[in-house]
This record gives sequence, structure tokens and C-alpha cells, in this order.
Amino acid sequence: MKIAILSREPSNYSTKRLMEVAHNRGHNAILVNHARCYVEIEQDNPTVRYEGEDISNLDAVIPRIGSNITKYGSAIVRQFEMMDVFTTAKSIAIVRTRDKLRSLQVLSKAGVGIPRTIFSRETRSVNDLVGQIGVPMIIKVARGTHGNGVVLAETQKAAKSVIQAFYVEGVNILLQEYIAESEGKDVRVFIIGGRVVASMERQSLDDDFRSNIHQGGVGAAIKLTQEERRTAIKAAKALGLSMCGVDMLRSKRGPLVIEVNSSPGLEGIEKATGKDIASKIIEYVELHAKRQKKKDRIGA
Ligand SMILES: Nc1ncnc2c1ncn2[C@@H]1O[C@H](COP(=O)(O)OP(=O)(O)O)[C@@H](O)[C@H]1O
Ligand SMILES: [Mg+2]
Repeated sequence: MKIAILSREPSNYSTKRLMEVAHNRGHNAILVNHARCYVEIEQDNPTVRYEGEDISNLDAVIPRIGSNITKYGSAIVRQFEMMDVFTTAKSIAIVRTRDKLRSLQVLSKAGVGIPRTIFSRETRSVNDLVGQIGVPMIIKVARGTHGNGVVLAETQKAAKSVIQAFYVEGVNILLQEYIAESEGKDVRVFIIGGRVVASMERQSLDDDFRSNIHQGGVGAAIKLTQEERRTAIKAAKALGLSMCGVDMLRSKRGPLVIEVNSSPGLEGIEKATGKDIASKIIEYVELHAKRQKKKDRIGA
């Protein structure tokens, strides 16, 4: 099969693992920098070109689109969808999950547990908003990643000034109940083909409340409860992702999903669990790309 890993980072662990496993399983795996792709659109003949070459004849793409190029990257993925190339993440789902507010709205409608969250741009009612969530509270940039746009405000005064600072800059933020009992830990559930294939708990190293591996957090394999497993699967399904990483907090009232990642990293989870996740992804691609081809043939 001809499989493209869409990535701008050739030396990234996940990119390298996917390339290596795809090659070892006998596929023609190519690394495609989506930022350097362009699409041609005309009647009945959609194409994608990469460095001048037509790459429309792919069987599958595995998008690993960075959050700073979501719009362009997802447009390239959408073009592959238009050409009936199998993708491990649909463009709509990539766009949806990059916005924390949008994801939480979808999750809440699907009945998935989430931390109580307020979204507002009403600057005159900051005091009321702070009062409704209470302190300590989490203030989150709607499009942040790697823990960079997440603030823990411990007092009303701190919360108010942080919120106002974001408003002045025109940044969309979420105010969220602080789940104190998660104690700087979160749970990453890795889903492939709508099933849980691995899970780990991430813990911050120092006294940071953020457990992101990019902030120095470390992962360890854990066993999920039935409820956690069900919640992760439900969250993935609600957002339209059959392969993803679901992040949740263990709270007194059960698992609460904080975000879902459409290009979950492989390094943390493979090291923490000792599982060969890259092979599971390529196996999943083999199964579905073949099915899609068959469907297209029958349809033709
Ligand atoms: N409501 C919350 N209560 C307690 N801790 C939280 C909460 N939201 C996030 N955190 C902590 O902060 C980290 C980063 O938050 P997250 O929403 O995942 O943003 P990012 O997209 O930047 O990773 C989480 O992994 C978790 O450890
Ligand atoms: Mg996160």
C-alpha cells in the first residue's frame, strides 16, 4: 500500500515509528510535509501535489497536523477525503478537537462527563463568572496545547486579573472548575478503531498542576475502570475519531474528559506501556484502506 504520513517533523518519534513500521510491513510509506502540499480543484478531478509531484494515488494518509497549521493541514486532509483516500482522522474531527470549547460542547451533548466550564466574552460580568465557578479555578486558552495556555488561579483577585488580561488581548478562554483530587495527574487513553489499546497516567514531576509530558510530566501504565473505558470510547465516537488520545481527570464524580487529541503522540504511551502502538495503527490502516478501496470499486 502507498501510505503517507502527513508531518512537518521528520525527526519526531511518532513520525519515525510510523514510517519504520509501515516500511517493515512492506508498504510504500512516504513522509509528506502538508505545509508544502497544494491542491488543484477542477470539475471531477481533485488532486494533491507535493513538491510538484501528483500524490493523488495514495491508499491512506495518517495526518499528524501541528496545532499551528490546523486550517491548512486539515484542508489538505479534506482534499484526500474528496479523493476517497482513507484517513485515520477526518478533517472535520481535526478542526473540531483543536477548539476546546467546541469539543466540550459536543462531549456534553453526548453525555460525556466534563469539568463544569463557562465560556464568555462579557467583560462587565467578570465578578459573577468568577463567583459561579469559584476558586481555585482553571482558566484555559480555547486553542492552547502542551499545557501552555492553562492557568490555575487560586484567589478571586488572581482569577479576575488573569481573565481581564486575556480579554484585553482578545483571546478566547474557558473558565473551568478545578479538579483538585486529580492532583497534577491525568489519564491518557489511546483509542484505535474505536477500541482502547493502551492507557497511562501522567503525573507532573514537581508541584505543577499540569501533567503534560511537554511540561516535564511522566507517564506510567494504568488499568482503567469500566466507566473510564466507556467514557473514553464515547468521547472518541462523539467527536468522530476512531483513532485518538482521550485525556481525562479522575474526579470524585467519575472520569471527566478534558480534551481529545486527533494526533496523539506515540513516545509517551509506548514507553509507559511497552506496547507497540505504531504497529497497531498501521494494522488498522491496512484493514480500513483495503475496505475503502473495495467500497469504491463496487460504487464505480
Ligand atoms: N479542570 C482541571 N482541573 C485540574 N487540572 C486540570 C484541569 N484542566 C487541565 N488540568 C491539568 O492541566 C493539564 C493541561 O490541560 P489541557 O486542558 O489538557 O490543556 P493542553 O491542551 O494545553 O494540554 C492537564 O493535563 C491537567 O493535568
Ligand atoms: Mg492536554
